[in-house]
Amino acid sequence: MTTQKILSPYTFPRTGITVPNRAVLAAMTNKQSHADGSLSEDELSWLSARAAGGFGIVTTCAAHVSPDGQGWEGELGVFDDALLPGLTRLADALRSGGAVSLVQIFHGGVRAPSRLTGQQPFSASAFKLDAEGFEAPREATVEDIERTISAFAAAARRCAEAGFDGVEIHGAHGYLITQFLGTVSNTRTDEWGGSLENRARFVRRILTATREATPDDFLIGVRFSPEVSDQGVELDDALTLATWLAADGVDFLHVSNWDSFKPPEKHPDSEKLLTTWIREAIGPETPLIATGGVWTPAEAEQVLEHGADLVGLARAAIGNASWPREAARADWEPARPPYTPEHLRDAALGEAMLEYMRRWPGFVTDGR
Ligand SMILES: Cc1cc2nc3c(=O)[nH]c(=O)nc-3n(C[C@H](O)[C@H](O)[C@H](O)COP(=O)(O)O)c2cc1C
Repeated sequence: MTTQKILSPYTFPRTGITVPNRAVLAAMTNKQSHADGSLSEDELSWLSARAAGGFGIVTTCAAHVSPDGQGWEGELGVFDDALLPGLTRLADALRSGGAVSLVQIFHGGVRAPSRLTGQQPFSASAFKLDAEGFEAPREATVEDIERTISAFAAAARRCAEAGFDGVEIHGAHGYLITQFLGTVSNTRTDEWGGSLENRARFVRRILTATREATPDDFLIGVRFSPEVSDQGVELDDALTLATWLAADGVDFLHVSNWDSFKPPEKHPDSEKLLTTWIREAIGPETPLIATGGVWTPAEAEQVLEHGADLVGLARAAIGNASWPREAARADWEPARPPYTPEHLRDAALGEAMLEYMRRWPGFVTDGR
C-alpha cells in the first residue's frame, strides 16, 4: 500500500495556488452558526481543527448567498457585508492552520423552507416531489433569477474580501442550481428551461458573474452530482455540463459521488466507476475533486487512480480531525462510527453539531 500521492502537493494550473496535499475537507452543514448567519466559536473551532489536522483544502458548510436561500438552522451566511468580521476571522484561522480555504456558496431554492426565510420558496418551476416536508415552490421570475445570480457574485466578492482562497458553487444534491438542471424540477419554456443549454444557463451565468466579481487569483469551482434521479438530472447531461464548465474556465470541478466505488446508476454493469466517467468526459486538464465513501488512505489512493486530482472526505473527517496527518503513518486505520459524544467533542464538534450527527443513523453511540 502506498499513501504517497494523496499526501503530495497539487498546484491549480490557472491561479498557481498550491495545496500542501490532496485531501479536501468536503462541505459539511454543521448547524453551528448564529441565527443571523454569523460565525460562532464552535464553527470556527470545528473548521480550524481540520486545517490544523492537515487538510490541504478546508471547505465551509453550504453558506447561503441571500436570506431567501437559507436551508437549515445555524447555517453560515455570506449574504451581507455585516458578516465580514466573522468570515475574515475564519479565513485567517484557516490560512494560519496551513490550509487553502473555500466557502461553499449556495441557494436552497425549494429546500429553503418558509419557517427560516419567512416566504414561500421559489424554484425553477412550481414542481412537486413526494418527499417528507416538501413545501410547494413558486416558479422563479426572471427578476428572481437575475437577483440570485448577482447574490452569488456578491457573496464570492465578499469571500475574497474576507481573505478566502476561493469559492465552491454548490450545484449538487438537489438545491437551486440542481433544480434548474433537472427536467423534473425545471419545466420552464423560456431561455431558462427546456434544452440542456437553457437549464445549464443559470449555473454558467453564476460562474461568469462570480469570476467578474472576484480577483484573478481567486479559485472558483463547481460541485455537481452525476445523477439526481428524483429531479431529472441524468448522467449524460451531467457529463455535458461538466465539459461546458471546463470550457468556461472553471478552476475545478467537484463530483459528489456519495459512493466512489460504484458505477453510474445508468450503467450498473460498467467497469468504469463514477470518477472515471467524469474524467474521461472533461479530459486531462481540468482539476477534479471526487468525494464519497472514502475512509482509508488506501481508498483515497484508489480514487486518485480513478482520475481525481484531489479527494474529498466528509464523514471520515468528523471523527478523524487530523486524517491527513495520521495518513502519513503506514499502519493507521481511521476511527469509524458509532462514536461516543466524548470522542466527537474531542474532535472539536460543538453541541449543535453533535445533536445534528445524532440524527445520522449509527453515527453517535447515543443517537438514532
Ligand atoms: C453532516 C454532513 C453534512 C453535509 N453537508 C453538506 C453541505 O453542506 N454541502 C455539500 O455539498 N455536501 C454536504 N454533505 C455531503 C458531503 O460533502 C459528502 O459529499 C458526502 O458525505 C459523501 O462523502 P463521505 O462518504 O466522505 O461522507 C454533508 C455530509 C454530511 C455527513
